[in-house]
Amino acid sequence: DWTMAAYRDTKVAEIREQVGDGRVICGLSGGVDSSVAAILIHEAIGDQLTCVFVDHGLLRLNEREQVESLFRDHYNIPLVVVDAEERFMAGLAGVTDPEKKRKFIGAEFIAVFEEEANKLGGADFLAQGTLYPDVIESVSFTGGPSVTIKSHHNVGGLPERMNMELVEPLRELFKDEVRELGRELGLNEQFVGRHPFPGPGLAIRIPGEVSKERCDILRKADAIYLDEIRNAGLYDAIWQAFAVLLPVKTVGVMGDGRTYDSVCGLRAVTSTDGMTADVYPFDASFLTQCATRIVNEVQGINRVVYDYTSKPPGTIEWE
Ligand code: XMP
Repeated sequence: DWTMAAYRDTKVAEIREQVGDGRVICGLSGGVDSSVAAILIHEAIGDQLTCVFVDHGLLRLNEREQVESLFRDHYNIPLVVVDAEERFMAGLAGVTDPEKKRKFIGAEFIAVFEEEANKLGGADFLAQGTLYPDVIESVSFTGGPSVTIKSHHNVGGLPERMNMELVEPLRELFKDEVRELGRELGLNEQFVGRHPFPGPGLAIRIPGEVSKERCDILRKADAIYLDEIRNAGLYDAIWQAFAVLLPVKTVGVMGDGRTYDSVCGLRAVTSTDGMTADVYPFDASFLTQCATRIVNEVQGINRVVYDYTSKPPGTIEWE
């Protein structure tokens, strides 16, 4: 008779056993996985845990504020927020290759994280919200043996360098189970039901060169799209929905003027674990409404397209 309440108790005991009176540091991404891991670990060892949230400037609208309020105000978990936007943008300048973006962001994340860990006087353990599919997909892709499709960004390399041991209490779980565990730990439905968001953030939703200006444009379009999805009551029926900003300019007409601005792509898929995905079949009128709002409200975008590719052969993200 296996329940999440039992899983929670087992893991709390295991974490206490593993950590003893050591100190744990946990990198938060703002997503469900690292949040649930942190809350579970905090339940086990209290303030022996410190969370670090790196704002790399590649987050969605208001995401940083939401994390701050959840951890500080709601759970009272020690949290350090690092404003690293400038150094990430500087490092991403001129980088267009998707794997180079991932590698830079991963390495820079580790550098920032290490600096913060040192400022905190170090830690014995590093906590991560690694899930079962992460364990599988970072090793091989379901379509064939040992082919890395995308090098997923995590803090690999850091534990050895800083002599830290990993604490990964979600390693046996799939996403839906993590959400169930989150509910069990008192996370509200809105947070628990959040769509997954990749570690490299908006950088892999801006094909071509990333800049603060492009991130700002994308944040606005993405927020409008998700606002429409929530208002239509469709959010929970979708695994992941997001906007991408393409490095293509097209001609448009606005009032009696000609425009020459960027194209925005919209993506929405259903999935159970992110390894395969189907396109979400919106009504045409819904997509028209999103396109109209985005073009009217976001300076820099004058055309919107919808992505009809399932996974495989497409991936969920565009990079
Ligand atoms: P793809 O694009 O490979 O995405 O079909 C599958 C799932 O993984 C997420 N994803 C990432 N998550 N770092 C992450 O932490 C990454 O580099 C990364 N790339 C993709 C993606 O959002 C989807 O949920």
